[in-house]
Amino acid sequence: MYNNEQTKILQAQTTEWLASMNAKNIIEIVALNIETLRNLLRFHEYRYYIENDPLITDREYDTLYKLLEKFEQENPGLITADSPTQRVGKGLVSSFPKVQHLVPMLSLENSYNAADLVDWDRKAKELSGLADIEYCVEPKFDGASISLIYENDQLYRSATRGDGVVGDEITINTKQIKSVPLSAKFSNYGIEQIEIRGEVLINKSNFKKFNDKLIEEGIPPFANPRNSAAGSLRIKDTAEVGRRNLEAFLYHVSYFTTTNTAQPTTHSGMLEMLWTLGFRSPKKEMLVVKGIDKVIQHVEEFETRRDTLPYEIDGMVVKVNDLALQEKMGMTSHHPRWAIAFKFKARQATSKLLGVNFQVGRTGAVTPVARIEAVAVGGVTVTSISIHNEEYIREKDLMLGDTILIERSGDVIPQIVKSFAELRTGSEEVIHFPTTCPVCGHQLFKPEEEAVWRCININCTAQIVERIIHFVSKDAMDIKSFGEANVRKFYELGLLKDVPGIYQLNYEAIGQLPGFGKKSLDNLQAAIAGSKLQPLHRLIYGLGIRYVGDTTAKTLANLVDDLKEFTDFTEEQLQQAEDVGVKVAGSIYRFFHDVENLHTLKQLEALGISLKNQKKRAAISDTPLAGQTFLFTGTLIQLKRSDAEAKVEENGGKIVSGVSSKLNYLVVGDDAGSKLEKAKKIQTIKIISEEDFIKMLPV
Ligand code: IVH
Repeated sequence: MYNNEQTKILQAQTTEWLASMNAKNIIEIVALNIETLRNLLRFHEYRYYIENDPLITDREYDTLYKLLEKFEQENPGLITADSPTQRVGKGLVSSFPKVQHLVPMLSLENSYNAADLVDWDRKAKELSGLADIEYCVEPKFDGASISLIYENDQLYRSATRGDGVVGDEITINTKQIKSVPLSAKFSNYGIEQIEIRGEVLINKSNFKKFNDKLIEEGIPPFANPRNSAAGSLRIKDTAEVGRRNLEAFLYHVSYFTTTNTAQPTTHSGMLEMLWTLGFRSPKKEMLVVKGIDKVIQHVEEFETRRDTLPYEIDGMVVKVNDLALQEKMGMTSHHPRWAIAFKFKARQATSKLLGVNFQVGRTGAVTPVARIEAVAVGGVTVTSISIHNEEYIREKDLMLGDTILIERSGDVIPQIVKSFAELRTGSEEVIHFPTTCPVCGHQLFKPEEEAVWRCININCTAQIVERIIHFVSKDAMDIKSFGEANVRKFYELGLLKDVPGIYQLNYEAIGQLPGFGKKSLDNLQAAIAGSKLQPLHRLIYGLGIRYVGDTTAKTLANLVDDLKEFTDFTEEQLQQAEDVGVKVAGSIYRFFHDVENLHTLKQLEALGISLKNQKKRAAISDTPLAGQTFLFTGTLIQLKRSDAEAKVEENGGKIVSGVSSKLNYLVVGDDAGSKLEKAKKIQTIKIISEEDFIKMLPV
């Protein structure tokens, strides 16, 4: 969409705008150049959401965005429908009107193995009269399908699939999806009106974050990203749609009107056109090949890579590439004859609900866990599944002895999709919820506004153990070689009684335990010592404050220089922080006003655990990263890019947005592209691998 020349110009303009942000006449500059500013924001949205390769930091983007927003607020007459600010949805939608698709949204015929594809190819050849057909093969995105209509280069309308003929109009929600352009130059191809089909998804990492948050709030999570994308498209709070970070892949042009013949004549050409116009089409994922053998080889190979993709796919779609041939082959009332889906191995399976155990978590929440007949699904054997709470059991209509459908997509924890009430024999039994804690026997309690029963005995063994397990876990203090089993063992043996106890372990006694040789003892000791300098957000998350997941923990860590400062925050002040609402603020406030918690913090500090903000700490320390500039390119394997960037900043380094002589280190991951080439030409830049980078970090 943007060639090198345009990229350079836009990036230079960005630098110029950022440099003049503090100029007195900045508003005048905006007034004279408002379209330039909008174009810059569109360009950076494209780099971020379509190319996945941002050139500026989030903060720099926000600075420019806020400038445009401020100007438009003061000059509402100058707002255009395709201004980047017009994605922002406010308020509630009352209903989604029904609209008819320009062309019915058909389904796809399915195939499950090579023989099915060979058979389909034979029929396609018969229909076309050709000896060999050129196919375009692309992923089958596992999300919710949508249609988009553009008229005169502007997004005019968007709808859900509905029954294929009539769907729900969801334009306002679709505008929240940053990879859907609000305007696109279809006129360059002589196109006046166009209907495009695609799939809305939530990528795996955003889905996990979203589900973790639901679990943290005691709300049952979604079974898979597909359900959560479909649900998100139809929620009435538009701003919430924006927060869910939906993405859209556009893979089919179903209709267009034109005054000339300047359009692509192949499906792959259409995908190229969409990509060029700023859409996220599967241009990079598609393969154009002749003959079904190569198709089969490709789809089978792609299936092995399924789990490494950032989003869920449930198969591949094979399409006849020549559009004239597609037209000739036509369609049935159900599916086009020129396309077929190749479905990957199912990640659903049926099983039997044998019994229910009740587990007590670190917040005292009592969670029912279903014991099920062992079943292999998505490559693992599942024998138990969380069924969340009493309401969920009722909603899913679960009974002991039921036949159930379960699903495990990717690395998502298995979920029950439904029970088969029609298969009941009459011997099934109702699931009874306990009234007392299954661990300590204390009476259970359920606040009216919550769905979860809790044990409110602070000394309940289960809660103490779970709190310690959470503290040492990967997303919290990440004390490797500690793990759940060791926590339980040490607790049972009286070697560990609370969180500060982690730092007071009697290694001599542990050394006497079977399986604890010198090496494992040394590892454990080193991991515990290393955790003392973990970034503050990990400590905050590890403390297990209710409703504070790892994202909120990061927000909180940025507010203070020292954790103890939270004792001075009011609930109102806490609510000023991003994503911190009344409920979360209340919980944080209570945590930092609880005598026992404050005592724990004091103990931790006395034991050498830093309560200080890492940025301050890095400034005084002398790490090899201090004062150096870094840039990451390509896919990192061990670290998430955002974590790697955070590490740089925590250790006194700086992230820069592009390759220039000001760059000290370029950290190169897999499939690095133009940045690497550019950096090679500048001798002062040190080009290092992810491993080299990790070695630079202080232990
Ligand atoms: S083409 C007229 N391509 O799968 C042909 N569909 O199970 C339109 N899907 O209804 C469909 N990825 O919602 C096509 N690359 C892809 C797709 C895809 C996902 C969905 C689509 C369709 C469903 C059929």
